[in-house]
This record gives sequence, C-alpha cells and structure tokens, in this order.
Amino acid sequence: MAGGLARLTDELGILYGGDYNPEQWDREVWREDVALMREAGVNLVTVGVFSWSHLEPRPGEYRFAWLDEVLDLLHDAGIAVDLATPVASPPPWLGHRHPESLPTTADGTVLSYGSRNQFCPSSDAYRTAAVAIAEQVAARYARHPAVRMWHAGNEYGQVCFCDRCAERFRDWLRARYGTLDDLNAAWATAVWSQEYGDWAEILPPRVAPYHHNPAQELDFRRFGSDLLLDLYREQKAVVRRHDRDRPVTTNLMGFFGGIDPHDWRADLDVVADDAYPDPASPDAAADAALVNHLARGLAGGGSWLRMEQAASAVSWREHNLTKSPERLRTEVLQALAHGCDGALFFQWRQARSGPERFHSAMLPVAGADTAVHQGVRSLGAELRALRGLVGEPVHRRVALLWDWTSWWAATQVALPTARLDPLATLQAWHRELWRLGVVADVVPADRADVALHDYDLVLAPAQYVLDNDSAARLDAYVAGGGHLVWGPFGGVADGLSHLHAGRSPAPLRHVLGVSAEEWVPLPDGGSAVAWSGAGVEGLRGTAATLGERTRSDGADVLATYDDGPLAGCVAVARHAHGSGRTWYVGTALAGPAGGLGDVLRAALDDAGVPLGGQGPGVETVWRGGVLVAINHADRAATLDLAAARAVGPAAVRDATVPTDVPTDVLTDLLTGARHDGSATLPLAPYDVVVLATGRP
Ligand code: GAL
Ligand code: ZN
Repeated sequence: MAGGLARLTDELGILYGGDYNPEQWDREVWREDVALMREAGVNLVTVGVFSWSHLEPRPGEYRFAWLDEVLDLLHDAGIAVDLATPVASPPPWLGHRHPESLPTTADGTVLSYGSRNQFCPSSDAYRTAAVAIAEQVAARYARHPAVRMWHAGNEYGQVCFCDRCAERFRDWLRARYGTLDDLNAAWATAVWSQEYGDWAEILPPRVAPYHHNPAQELDFRRFGSDLLLDLYREQKAVVRRHDRDRPVTTNLMGFFGGIDPHDWRADLDVVADDAYPDPASPDAAADAALVNHLARGLAGGGSWLRMEQAASAVSWREHNLTKSPERLRTEVLQALAHGCDGALFFQWRQARSGPERFHSAMLPVAGADTAVHQGVRSLGAELRALRGLVGEPVHRRVALLWDWTSWWAATQVALPTARLDPLATLQAWHRELWRLGVVADVVPADRADVALHDYDLVLAPAQYVLDNDSAARLDAYVAGGGHLVWGPFGGVADGLSHLHAGRSPAPLRHVLGVSAEEWVPLPDGGSAVAWSGAGVEGLRGTAATLGERTRSDGADVLATYDDGPLAGCVAVARHAHGSGRTWYVGTALAGPAGGLGDVLRAALDDAGVPLGGQGPGVETVWRGGVLVAINHADRAATLDLAAARAVGPAAVRDATVPTDVPTDVLTDLLTGARHDGSATLPLAPYDVVVLATGRP
C-alpha cells in the first residue's frame, strides 16, 4: 500500500517519538512518561516490540490489562501508537518446551534463550506461537483509537542452518529449479564433485572443510531473505484480518546484508529504517546521507521513516562516543532534508536494567534536567515548525546503483582480492558526491521497475554482478541519452556468481567501449596513473587495490597506468554510445589531483548536473521549495545563497514559483528571519538552517 506514511503524517505532521517499553516500568513511571512525552512534542511511540513474555507469561495465558492501560493513557494524552506484534523475542517457555524452535549456527551450535531474537524462522512451534500472539494483539487492539500503525517483529535478520531450515531450503530450490538436473547445472556442481543425485542430499552451506559453492551460498542468502519475508507476511496477514487499512511495516537496517530489502518493499506499507551512524567516524555525515538515500530509493523516491536512532551514545560498539544535542539535530534534520518524515528513537526512556542500560534515550536515566532531554524537547518544537516539508520531493538527478545480489557475491571468498570491499567502494564514491554537493538515490541495477531515465547520471561503483537483462537496461539508458560511470571489477559475474565468458564486462563492453582480459590486484602502495586525455593532461593519481588489464575498443582513453603490473593499460576512459556517454573507472582511484573526485566532477559536468558544494562539512539539499543547509563540522562556515539557489529545482532557479514573496527572498522556517537570495549567511558549528523560497 503506497501512501502508508502519508496517512500518519497528514494527521500528525512530522512523526516524533520512539520505542516505548512500559513493561520495564511501573504505573507511576508511565504517567510521568506520558506527561514528559507531551512536553517534548512526542506524537508517536512504538509499543510492545519486546513484550511477548509480559503479554503471554505461559503458553496461552494472556495478560493484557497493563497494555490496555498504557494504550489508554497514551491516547488520552494525544500520543499515537505504532503497535508491535511482539514476535522478535520469544519467551523462555517456547525454547524450553520446543528446543527445535531455537536457531542453529553454521557450525551446529544451538543458540539459547536468555538474550533476544532466538528463533529458527522455519520452526513450526515458533511460527504457530508467533501467529497466536499476533492474533491476540491484533484482535484486541485493532479498534483501539491510539493505534495508527503496526510494527511486525523487529529488524528481521535471523539465519538458521538446522535440519528444518535445510528442508525448507530444498523446497525453495525445487520451486526455483524444478529438477535436480537444472539445479546441478545452475550450481555448476561438476566442480569439486558436488553433483546431487537426490534432493535430500542438499544442505545449507554449513561449516565445511574448504570453500563453499558460491552459487549455493548465493541461493541460501536469497532463500533466507524469502523465508523471513514469509514470516513478516504471516504477521501482516494476521493484522489484516482485524485491521484492513492501517499501515503495517517492520524496520530495515540500512546496509544490512541479512535480507534483500528490494524484495520486501512491496509488502512494506511504510519504508522504515534504523540508523546508528558512528560519531567517531570522520565520514559519519556523508555515510549517514548514503543510508538515507538508500531508504528513499526503497521508497521509490518518496518519503520514508526513521524508525530508530540514538539520542546520544549506543552501547553495542567497543567504545561508544556520545553525541551532542547539536550533532543529533544535524542528523535528524539531514534525514528530513533527504525525505524522512519522522524521527523516532530507540528508545524513549533509558533502561536501568538489562544489556541496553547504557544506551542513550530521549529521556536519560538522569532525568529531564539533562542536555540530552532538553535537546530532544527543542528538536520536537522545531519539527512542528517544519511540518510543511512533509511529503515534499527531494531534488536529485543522480542515481547510485547498488543491489544485494552483487554485494553478496562480491563478498564471497576466493576472489582476486579480499580487499576491494563493495560497500566501502560505494561509500568512497558517495563521499565524493557528497563533497561535491550532489544528492543521489541509491537504487538497484537488478530490478526492472527502476526508472533510470529519471536520472541525468547513473553511477555503478561496485556492480560485480550484472545479468543480461540489467545490462540491456543500462544499454538502453545510455543509448537514449543517459550518462553512466562504471566502476572497477564490475559486470564480472552473473546472478549465480559464475563469471561471464569473454572480455570483461562481457554484457556491457560495447556500451563502455573498453574491455578487460584479467583482474589484477595491485601491489601495496598502488600504481601511478597518468592522465593524458584532452583537458586532463598533467593530472596525476594513484590506483589502489585492484585494476583491470583493459584496452580501448573505441573509447577515448583519459588515463593509463604508469607503472606496476598494468603499465600502459587503460585506467579511465570515456565513450559515446547512442546519444549518451559512459565513463569507465577501472580501479580505486585516489587523488590529490587525478583522483575519483576529478572523474566524478567531469562526469557530472558532462551530464549537466550542477554542483552544490559549499565547502568542507557543509551540506545543502533542496526538498520541494525548501533549502536545508547543514554545517556538519565543528567549525564556523558560510552559506552562499546564490550558489545554493543555482543548483535548486528549476522552479527556484527560474524564479517561477507563484507567490507574493519574491523567490529571491528566503525565509528561515525556524527563526522567521528573511534573507536576500544573494546573501552569504554565517553557519555556526553544527548549525542547520531551513530556508523556504516564496511564502512559507
Ligand atoms: C536496534 C534494535 C533495538 C535496539 C537498538 C539499540 O538494532 O532494533 O531494539 O536494540 O538496536 O541500538
Ligand atoms: Zn532452522
């Protein structure tokens, strides 16, 4: 159901709140919670995610009075509820009575209860019990006026290698391949004497003496994602029996490898994502942006919801840096700029007990008289003032290709190098875009429903797997006038991890005008790259990690390797194909001059995409007719409004917005101040300004 999020935000505005775990507290605390929530501007809380044992202490024995009371309290205070089916963490009784409901690792270890998330996704005992408790919750609360959304499970990601999962895997394979002959062919089991003569012989990739069959591994990943999707659908179906229309969702985890979210998005009424950027990372702001761009890509370019984030520190890293309220504000408003229509946290009140007692919350254990909570309150007030941004489209003209099959396959063992991490490559390319002030959607190459033609430039930094259909779509995109930048070690394999035959990337070489015959890991220290093409002579760069023994088949050579094993081969090339243009970047390219940023800048120029860079750490994003400018740095900066307006949506650039306030005047939605459109504004460290063109 598209528009699930709009149903909430139309009524509530920007969503603000978090996980609320009242089962950990007594009644007096609930009352204080609700009063403080109201003061903080909280309008939505997620209730019941880990409440199964509290609702069903013994099988079939239900205890709902406390939840009745909590939901009534919240409703009386005008706080809406995202109600969970509490199936993420089964109570001890399930594992005790049904040990087969516990998950088994690849080495055969059975994981115990006493923590959370301990279930085998194939277990009938688990599934029956999970459906039963969901049924109780949905039947009882479907008509409760506080409930506005349903939250099935939590962060689905369980993997299990038990015998029951092996059976389910075989069922999944039968449905996919039909016959054993076809499976043997698809998995190339003639390699290493792996041919299967009976379905019963097939297993998940359990711990084995040496490397696994890569095709088997990939299929087990797909199966695992589908199996969890079945569980989610089972929960959603229960809810739907009682509530036909309120949105149902579960929380995704950004770049989490356990499920392929592109297979899930049609079943998610709201794209909801959890994000915990590491405050210790120098690239935290750029990488957080990338996660937001993935969520927006999953939402088809529309609005999405941040379901969880930390108000300050998490407690699961080795060394958990805190976050100042100013920095938290940059993260929340950055997400808002990127199409997020709600800021929810894990969690409302900091736990005093349990493994997450040191995890920050909107209300710290030290109480309301704290910088964290005061920051949360003022942020709540600001979000109310920014309601006008809800549903507005994010202005972007570039796509970054990224799909799970490619990620899974490119992180398997026994590759030319284990050092070319695809996610790190994606992040490296995106950090350059971010520095250049360019917003990009993250979209999969392997889905036919992505409209590449909506983008002026498509980047494929780490497209290791490229099937023929995806290659045909890229071909048509470029032939029709699109611009494509192709990264290293791309188009190497098909969807089962088999290498394409012929010079690489076989399905796309005619589009790129280059082809490679060998993948060549580079010595530590890399190789020098000399730039020689028109306009780029004299640039110098360094190639790192891996290159390709590439020749031009008609492309203009822009850079070649100067030394090392690839001396003389093509490192960077540009090619005209149909009415469009491709760029080939066959290695990890570092600056200072002649690095990745230079290539991307040239490709952006060529595609007519303007750069919005405003100096180190300053990010500008247009959402609708609103400019959000964020200083992510710990030092003062400036915002050049004329430059920022020049890269905005056409309506802003052309000053055609119908309004009685001239478009060259911008209004600060948080302070009411008006600024001349050609002014330069000071930005304090970690400051954010939200400026509307026209009448706000
Ligand atoms: C998430 C989880 C939450 C909480 C949070 C802490 O993965 O969904 O329940 O544990 O992490 O950062
Ligand atoms: Zn299992």
